[in-house]
Formats: sequence, C-alpha cells, structure tokens
Amino acid sequence: MTAPLIDPFARAITYLRVSVTDRCDFRCVYCMAENMTFLPKKELLTLEELDRMCTTFVGLGVEKLRITGGEPLVRKGIMTFFNAMTRHLESGALKELTVTTNGSQLARFADDLAAAGVRRINVSLDTLDEDKFAAITRWGRLPQVLNGIDAAQKAGLRIKINAVALKGFNEDELPRITEWCAERGMDLTWIEVMPMGDIGNENRLGQYWSLKDVRAQYQAQYSVTDLAERTGGPARYVRLEETGQKIGFITPLSHNFCESCNRVRLTCTGELYMCLGQEDMADLRAPLRAWPEDDRPLQEAIRAAISLKPKGHDFDYSRQRLDGQMPRHMSHTGG
Ligand code: GTP
Ligand code: 5AD
Ligand code: SF4
Repeated sequence: MTAPLIDPFARAITYLRVSVTDRCDFRCVYCMAENMTFLPKKELLTLEELDRMCTTFVGLGVEKLRITGGEPLVRKGIMTFFNAMTRHLESGALKELTVTTNGSQLARFADDLAAAGVRRINVSLDTLDEDKFAAITRWGRLPQVLNGIDAAQKAGLRIKINAVALKGFNEDELPRITEWCAERGMDLTWIEVMPMGDIGNENRLGQYWSLKDVRAQYQAQYSVTDLAERTGGPARYVRLEETGQKIGFITPLSHNFCESCNRVRLTCTGELYMCLGQEDMADLRAPLRAWPEDDRPLQEAIRAAISLKPKGHDFDYSRQRLDGQMPRHMSHTGG
C-alpha cells in the first residue's frame, strides 16, 4: 500500500483538478481579456501524458478527478482521455470522474461523457438573458449552451449550474435562475468573483457581489435552512423550503474555506498548483518526461509538492483593494 497524500496541515489530498487546455471558445469578462495569448500546442501534455499523470495520482489515493480548462471539451481528442480514465472507475480506485464546462460543446459530447462513466457535470452559466449572455461571454451564444444542457439531461447526466455573482449584472436574475434550476432538477451554486489574472479594462472590485448579500436576498424571498452536508468541494449549502432545492455558496472572499481543502490543480503543461490563490507550483512534466518507464520519480515529485501546500489563499477586498491578486487567469489552473 502506498501512503496517502497528506499535506503539512494534515489535509488529505484526494481531489485532482486537471486543466486540459488553456483555450476557450468564450471570453468571459471576469475570466479573460479579449485578446488572450494561449500556449503553443507543443507545450501541452499529450493525451497519453495526461493519462499517465492522472493514473499516478490515482495510485497515490486521488479519488476524484475533475477535468477543466479553459473549456475542456475544445481540446482535440479529449474523449480518448475520458475513455482511458474509465478503467479507474471500473477498478474502484476512482470514485468520481467529472467535468466543469461552459456547455458549448455538450450537444456533441454528452452521450460520450455518460458512456465514459461521468455522472454529474458542472456547467458555468451566469445569466439566462440572451443579450446579457453574449455580453458577459463576449463570444458565447446562449441557445447553444441551453441545447447542450438539454442533451446532457437526456444523456442522464446530473447538472450543477455554477453562476458567478456579479454586481449590477445578475443580481436581478436570482429568482429566475433559481426557479429555472428548480424546474429542471438542477443544483445551483453561486461563486464570488476572485482576483485572478489580467482582464483588460474591466473593474474587478466593481464586479464583486458578496454572497452575504445573495443569501440575504434568498432570505427575503424564501425560508432558508442551512445544511451540514458537504460534497468535498468548498461550497456550503442551504435548502429553500418552498422549492426543496439545494443552493450552494462558494465564498473565497467573504468566508474562507481553506481549512478543509482537499485538492490540487494540474495545468495542461504539467505544473501542479497547490493552491488556486498562491504562486507555489511544481513542474511535474520534467520527471514525467525524464523517466518514461519509471513512475517513482514522478511520485516523489508529487509528494514533495504536496509537502509544500500552503495554508490558503490571501484574496481580500475588504480594504477596497484587490489584495491577494493572482497574475494567472482562472483558465490556467481550471478554477
Ligand atoms: P463539486 O463540489 O464537486 O460540485 O465541485 P467544485 O465546487 O469543487 O467544482 P467547480 O468546478 O464547480 O468549482 C466551482 C468554482 O469554485 C471553481 O471554478 C472556483 O472558482 C471555485 N473553487 C473551487 N475550488 C476552490 C478552491 O479550492 N479555492 C477557491 N478559492 N475557489 C475554489
Ligand atoms: N472568479 C470566480 N470565478 C471565476 N470563474 C472564472 N473566472 C473566475 C473568477 N475570476 C469561474 C467560471 C467557472 C469556473 C470554472 O470558474 O465561471 O464557473
Ligand atoms: Fe471560458 Fe470558463 Fe473562462 Fe468563460 S469562465 S472564458 S467559459 S474558461
């Protein structure tokens, strides 16, 4: 038996998020600048290398793999990688294989994802208004995403909608989005906007809508019950008694949840980020490529990286400044 991955704060690392591409077919204003420079394709881990990397993590006790990006479903041949991971679900080593997507390619891939053993997916969607959707994503079209969501539900995938709470943008849509999710039997999680990457002329502080306010809005309209349950992610949940629906809150700014962090993030070039909100990272591509036949150096590099996992992020807007800002975009580390 190999020893599990335990960090210096006694947190067991059982969840790996893998960004398989930094590219995206959208340009969400809080995520990217309009003109982004992406990595040259030759920098990326190949699909075979991604397989070996993830398989090594699974061998070290990782039970949950979330595939992210950029937009993971725009990576060429990505279903080959999902299909390869199915063997870890079948062996029981992996408990969950899942994906966070903008939904644009779901009409094409929903059936294949389900066949590969994916059961639930997270779809990022901040508004149900076509014009606002076009404005916030710059390049996205809402009907395409809604078709994708239909296809995913038809394929039997459970869906969680992730909405970034944006001041003056989707505040007025809270009841509509909530009811739409309830009608379709989808979970909903709100996320506070984090200071990740240069987003051009957008004003990050102006975007910030604290989830304390979102919660207060719910309380004004519904009977809200706090739930103790956790899914292994940072979200805290409440139930709306009127609809029976569960709503999640991811609050890196207004309430720090780092003490229960169970995850690390692999980028598409094989860097391992130990925290979304810190710069510490380890290059795992070097040991992967230097020892093509022997996984032990890679395992050692992973253990060494985990032994440096920081306590948490330093995001903070309370002084009306962007404290803890990261130079990386969210698409680099996959959220
Ligand atoms: P489940 O609980 O499995 O549904 O997923 P999750 O919430 O871990 O994954 P998801 O991709 O839905 O994450 C939603 C967003 O929450 C991410 O894109 C990030 O914006 C944020 N988030 C997730 N994990 C962390 C974390 O460790 N730290 C911070 N600051 N934010 C996180
Ligand atoms: N702050 C919070 N969430 C963000 N996302 C992208 N950029 C940011 C940011 N700066 C979200 C997306 C998606 C997830 C992967 O991360 O909307 O739900
Ligand atoms: Fe693409 Fe997601 Fe970033 Fe939007 S938030 S630009 S969909 S990676």
